[in-house]
Order: sequence, then C-alpha cells, then structure tokens
Amino acid sequence: RILILDFGSQVTQLIARRVREAQVYCEIHPYDVSDDFVRGELAKGLKGVILSGSHASAYDEASMRAPQAVFESGVPVLGICYGMQTMAMQLGGKVSFSDHREFGYAEVRAHGHTPFLNGIQDFATPEGHGMLKVWMSHGDKVTELPPGFKLMASTASCPIAGMADVDRGYYAVQFHPEVTHTVQGQALLSRFVHDICGCGTDWNMPDYVSEAVEAIRKQVGSDEVILGLSGGVDSSVAAALIHKAIGDQLTCVFVDHGLLRLNEGEQVMQTFAENMGLKIIHVDATDDFMGKLAGETDPEAKRKIIGKEFVEVFQREAAKLKGAKWLAQGTIYPDVIESAGAKTGKAVTIKSHHNVGGLPDTLHLKLLEPLRELFKDEVRKLGIALGLPHGMVYRHPFPGPGLGVRILGEVKKEYADLLRRADAIFIEELRGTRATEQDAAAGLCAAEEVGKNWYDLTSQAFAVFLPVKSVGVMGDGRTYDYVVALRAVQTTDFMTAHWAHLPYALLGRASNRIINEVRGLNRVVYDVSGKPPATIEWE
Ligand code: XMP
Repeated sequence: RILILDFGSQVTQLIARRVREAQVYCEIHPYDVSDDFVRGELAKGLKGVILSGSHASAYDEASMRAPQAVFESGVPVLGICYGMQTMAMQLGGKVSFSDHREFGYAEVRAHGHTPFLNGIQDFATPEGHGMLKVWMSHGDKVTELPPGFKLMASTASCPIAGMADVDRGYYAVQFHPEVTHTVQGQALLSRFVHDICGCGTDWNMPDYVSEAVEAIRKQVGSDEVILGLSGGVDSSVAAALIHKAIGDQLTCVFVDHGLLRLNEGEQVMQTFAENMGLKIIHVDATDDFMGKLAGETDPEAKRKIIGKEFVEVFQREAAKLKGAKWLAQGTIYPDVIESAGAKTGKAVTIKSHHNVGGLPDTLHLKLLEPLRELFKDEVRKLGIALGLPHGMVYRHPFPGPGLGVRILGEVKKEYADLLRRADAIFIEELRGTRATEQDAAAGLCAAEEVGKNWYDLTSQAFAVFLPVKSVGVMGDGRTYDYVVALRAVQTTDFMTAHWAHLPYALLGRASNRIINEVRGLNRVVYDVSGKPPATIEWE
C-alpha cells in the first residue's frame, strides 16, 4: 500500500486515482498524521509515501510539514510540488519565496539517469536531452538541494524542477504528474509505485470482492442489516456486495416517492428481488409525497419536503425491523475525502447537495459503509464484477429528489406522468443513436468517439417539465398544451458543464416522438446553457 499525505491541493485525489490505476492500493490522509500513525501504516505493509501539492508556501518556518517518521520509515518518498518543497526544507535544502506564480504547460529537461525518469520522455532535443511535457503550478521553488540529493530535472525558469537521493529512495518533482496535461504522468507514478516502491499489481476487482465480502462478514457477524436502496449506482452496488456477503441478513428498503423515472421501480424490483433474490421492502409512498408537495412552488422548500418525508418513511419501515443493528450506506471515497476536507478545512468544499440518502442518527444503528474506499469508476467495476446489469451500473446520475427538481414549480402526479414518458423517449433516442463520421467532421464529437451512442457520450441527459401552455396545431385542430425542455450536458466533475452539441437529427426525432406519443405535450425546446451560469438541474 501507498500512503498519500494531503497538504490541501485540489488535485490530491488525482494522485490516488493514478496510483489505483496502476493497480496499487493507496489511501489519502491529512499531512499532520502522527509519527505513530506512519509506523502503524508500516506495520500494515506500507511500501511508499507521496507528499501532495498545496496552495500554501513551504518557505515559512511555520508551514505544514510531513511527519518526521516518513523520512525515518525506510520506504521511498515522492514529493510533488509543495511536497517537493517541504521535503527540501525538512532534509536541509533551501526554498525561496516568490510572489510570481508559474502556471501551465512547461517542458522539463530530465538530467542524468535516475530509476524514476530513466527511459521516460516525450521527445529528445537535437543534443539528445530527454524532455517531458508537464503541467506546473507553483510560486516558490527549491533553490538549494538538500545534502545527498542530485538534480533530476530542470526548466529555464525553475532550475531545480526535480531532485533525487537514489540511495535513500527520495524523489521529488516540482511539476504535477497526477494531472493529464503531464503526458507521462501515469508512467511516472507507475514507475514510482512499482519499480521504486516494489508494489505488485494486486489492487483488482475480483480480489477486492472476496476481501470485501470477508470484511463485511467479520464486521457484522450474525447481525441484521438495513439498507436504503434508491436504484442509483452506489446504493445498488452496496446492496449487491452486502447481499453476497451475508445473504438474507440484509433487508433493503426501497422508497418510491413517485418521482422516479419511467418503470424505474419495476426495474429495481426485477433486478434485485427477482433476479438476485434480495429481501426488499418496496414502499409506494407516492401519495404521501404528492400530498406533502401540494401547493409548494419554491425549489428549496420542495427539496426539504422530499428529504424530510423520505427520512420519515424510511424510519417508519426501519423501525419495523426490530432486530436490525446496522444501517448500510453507499458512501464512496470522494464523499469521505470531501467531508474530511470540510471538517479539517484543508480542501475547499465545492458542493454540498443534500442527498435523500443521508439519514439522521435517530435509529441508533451502527454504520456499514463497504464502498468507503472506492472511487466512482471502481464502484462501477465492482458492480459489474458482482453481476449487476451494465445499463444500471453505467447510468447517468439521478438526483435524490428525482423528478421533483425537474418539474418546475408545483409538483403534480399528472406532470410527473407526462415528464416520465418524455424523458424515456429522449433517453431511448440517445441510447439508440450512434455518433457518425459526419458528427465528428462537424465537431460534435471527437474522431475516436465515432460509433459510440449519445447516451454514453453525454454525462447527464433528461427532460424538464415546464408548467406553461403554448398553442400548437395537430391534424386540423388547435392544441394548447405543456412544454418540455431537453437537457444534455458533458462534464467530468459536474461542477462545471457544457451543453451537449447533439446532432440535429437526434433532437428532431426526440421532439417528434415526444409530441406525437405523449398527449398533453405539444412543444419541445433544447437547453443551450452552460454551467455556470446555469446549473445542470433546473431547480
Ligand atoms: P446542479 O444542478 O447543481 O447539479 O448543477 C450537479 C449534479 O448534482 C445532482 N444533484 C443532486 N444530487 N441530490 C442529489 O443526490 C440533490 O439534491 C441534487 N441536486 C442536484 C445533479 O443531478 C447533477 O448531477
């Protein structure tokens, strides 16, 4: 295993992603863990430490430092950006302060041969120097190597852009190998964890499944467990995993608030109850939710009503399961890091959507969170390894309040029914339409995306119900019906997003079908707003 010490960079998570892509298990912890913690990690088989970047200045004596035990542990250490600077300061080098930031693309010359850079380069200069195309983001820089270190890389503006003490296993780079702009980044991190630290490639899904199953059995023993199943990826994978471990000791509560997508309730029951044999209490609470939402038009008030009602319904059902000792949740690693960051203030919290899955602690149950160590793409791989259908595991995200935030203003069952059908048609057209050479030539997608379907080429797509009527003509008659907006976005982090440039023919087919097949709708519009300034959902 590899330990990543976080000094508060926004991209620390990416280091962990890259290490895991190299099939090595790693964990992120705050930089100020104790020496004992580091020694504890050694006892668990720690093979190397990575020190992350930061926004702070390493120059200041009072700044953040890595625990001394890291340098006494005998395992290799890699410093990145701030991590390099604190390594220099802690081992007797010098860092000089600068208020001028170097930010963006840079070409770095690799000096001499270290096991870290040897043979890895993007191009060679006419003189035969190996060069790397990298991403830099720093102000301060190392100006004097610590004793025992040799220069490993340099640029014109940053003469010490990399340093190494090969004998002691210390390596450091001023640039960021974890971001994709550093072309050889994955190769470099792979080199560190495999060749320098000696980690094997033992972080893989089939092994993880058996380890996780064992861990769950050990943790819960013969106790009963309850899980709130929403049909979303995380709770579905958690349910499948726990069921594999403890079978009928798990009971799932599936609350249908009447704001799910078309046939979603049936699909969840089919997959989990019929095909996989899970015990599921299916609560159709549509009337309760619609009753509570009647007359409410304010988006935040609607969210609160849905969240509160969800908790009440769930708790009512959970209370009936007298023997239950554990509450299982599909918390994943980014949630863990985000809330840890929010607590320690080390990373800025970007998003705090309240999710209807978050339950207050009034049930007095112990928490079982078997996905706490996994990133989203690992959760998906785990879902596939557990036999969940591809379509469920690779589904677009769906907000906890469901169609409640996609029906503008007051929520009514009649509106939800119209929206569900329009949404299903749009999704069907996206899934059924593949990107063509012409789409690529028109700049709608990249050349290598030709042949993929548009559902997979968008990050999130859905219909929104607008409670306004417009005039239309159908056959010989006049219509006066509701409008839906179609929304499709492309994003990697959901914090910023572009509206998807879908082919006109696809939009045309979706519009035609919606208006022809869903009586009560006579107009379809397409949302061409980015985030920011708009958000992805309309409420
Ligand atoms: P916005 O609309 O803020 O959405 O651009 C960003 C992402 O978050 C999802 N979203 C939610 N997810 N509970 C959730 O579980 C919520 O209350 C919620 N609101 C928005 C949204 O679908 C998008 O993926």
